[in-house]
Amino acid sequence: MKKWEYGNYWEKYPIEEGQLWVDTVTGSILSVCDITKHVPSFFVPDIIYCDPPWDLGNANSFLTKNESGYYLSSFSEFYNKLFEIIKNVKPSVCYLEIGKRNLKVFQNELSNIYNQIQTWEVTYYKKNKSYLIRGSESKTDFDFTGMDDMDTPFAAIKNEQCKSVGDLCTGRGLTAVAALANNKRFYGVELNKRRMAVTIDRMIQRGSNFKIK
Ligand SMILES: C[S@@+](CC[C@H](N)C(=O)[O-])C[C@H]1O[C@@H](n2cnc3c(N)ncnc32)[C@H](O)[C@@H]1O
Repeated sequence: MKKWEYGNYWEKYPIEEGQLWVDTVTGSILSVCDITKHVPSFFVPDIIYCDPPWDLGNANSFLTKNESGYYLSSFSEFYNKLFEIIKNVKPSVCYLEIGKRNLKVFQNELSNIYNQIQTWEVTYYKKNKSYLIRGSESKTDFDFTGMDDMDTPFAAIKNEQCKSVGDLCTGRGLTAVAALANNKRFYGVELNKRRMAVTIDRMIQRGSNFKIK
């Protein structure tokens, strides 16, 4: 098995680009697509929680793992699109995880959309420093400082008034699991069908039941 095949989940749940996998239990919807090229119209969540690629190398390594056959020449090609989508959807709250290198860029971009920007220093893999940014029209009192990014989506979603949560870089489904744990509908988009299949499996383990549209 190649390292980037992510197990045999896709063989079990063969989601393809262009399909919508709809959870008949919660109304959650999943779709495979590259957000720099297209965003499905179902993506209208009340809040967004997203851990996107953090820099150009990271974005291109996900394109390699997906065998996309093309690369970005600058990180702005990715994040310009990311923030354009956030601006169009304008959820009441948007959480983004980011590393130090592009922290200021993300803070600036989010402050073009929201009046209130808050940032907390958190960790990933329980030791490395990273940042959680929240954009909204009003601040939260919740303090995420020092939390690990395995836990922040659960706390963030629990802390917000919302019926649905969206993630534009769903990956293997941490936000999806956090949404389900908080009884929220989940709208997920992800580049890599094999990573999305892991999410489908995790959601099915938690009671979801998908039909394909
Ligand atoms: C840091 S990971 C997210 C991890 C995720 N929270 C999880 O639970 O697995 C970033 C994700 O963004 C996805 N991604 C990268 N470029 C993308 C693009 N252009 N469109 C959509 N998803 C993309 C990657 O495939 C990867 O799954």
